[in-house]
Amino acid sequence: MTTIKKIGVVGAGQMGRGISQVAAMAGYEVQMFDISQEALDFGYGFIEKQLNRGVEKGKWESSFVSETLGRLKGETDLTSLKDCDLLIEAATENKEIKFKIFKQLDEVAKEGAILATNTSSISITEIAAVTSRPDKVAGMHFMNPVPVMKLVEGIRGLETSDETFDAVEEASQKMGKTFIKVNDVAGFAINRILMPMINEAIYAHYEGVASCEDIDTGMKLGTNQPMGPFELADFIGLDTCLAIMEVLHEGLGDTKYRPCPLLKKYVLAGRMGRKSGRGFYVYNK
Ligand code: CAA
Repeated sequence: MTTIKKIGVVGAGQMGRGISQVAAMAGYEVQMFDISQEALDFGYGFIEKQLNRGVEKGKWESSFVSETLGRLKGETDLTSLKDCDLLIEAATENKEIKFKIFKQLDEVAKEGAILATNTSSISITEIAAVTSRPDKVAGMHFMNPVPVMKLVEGIRGLETSDETFDAVEEASQKMGKTFIKVNDVAGFAINRILMPMINEAIYAHYEGVASCEDIDTGMKLGTNQPMGPFELADFIGLDTCLAIMEVLHEGLGDTKYRPCPLLKKYVLAGRMGRKSGRGFYVYNK
């Protein structure tokens, strides 16, 4: 099986920095890449803060922080990823951007390196098809916030080899995650179930069944979810929720996946959730 010692992470945003953190904490050498030095610096600083908070809470020693940070490097040059055994792409959720990145990664990555994507909705088979190594491409769908959420949804593209899938499972487990095996169908498993629940909550509110607050309280207290559907939608980002509903609607062709008009309207108005300061709720930016 492919031995993974060094992991490259493409994108230093919310997901990329979380993946970099858990990979470095697990003992991997981690090379972060982003086109923006500012994003890399912010990502590194965020990880440092998270790790130091762990010391304050008595979760680990300060020596663990320096060792972990010592394994973490960041570059704005894609060729810095050339000696990585596993590359995890966590860039913007846009097909054209992902295709472009995967073509570049295929050229830069060493022979035998695995190319994984953290996409929440784009077909792994289609991403793999732009590379010369579709057997070495798989989905590793981490959940937000990555250091807290214990799941990696492993997605197998049409050509993903057993060796590749076993290697990403092993790496996920080493990062302290439970790995579930899912086939490459629109929305995979988690978002196919989660997003229609969120969309249905929005419909219920839109049709006057109850307020966002009451639906959230009901779902938290009545079904033991840590966040209600509106809090969670704002946390994920309403643009992301809408994009995933559109993938489900188009990919599965069933009207039950029709995005709620209210969700569309909020996105058009720029109410993207926490990140824009306003979604179903208002936040201090
Ligand atoms: N990064 C790192 N750690 C974080 C964090 C972050 N952004 N936010 C919270 N934490 C940590 C805290 O440090 C704390 O750690 P300790 O217990 O070790 O002290 C722990 O999480 C709990 O935090 P809080 O007490 O501040 O807050 P909370 O109890 O309200 O939990 C939460 C916050 C973990 C986000 C919780 O509300 C939760 O689990 N929500 C659901 C999140 C979820 O469903 N995520 C999946 C979204 S779907 C997705 O990601 C996939 C997709 O494709 C859209």
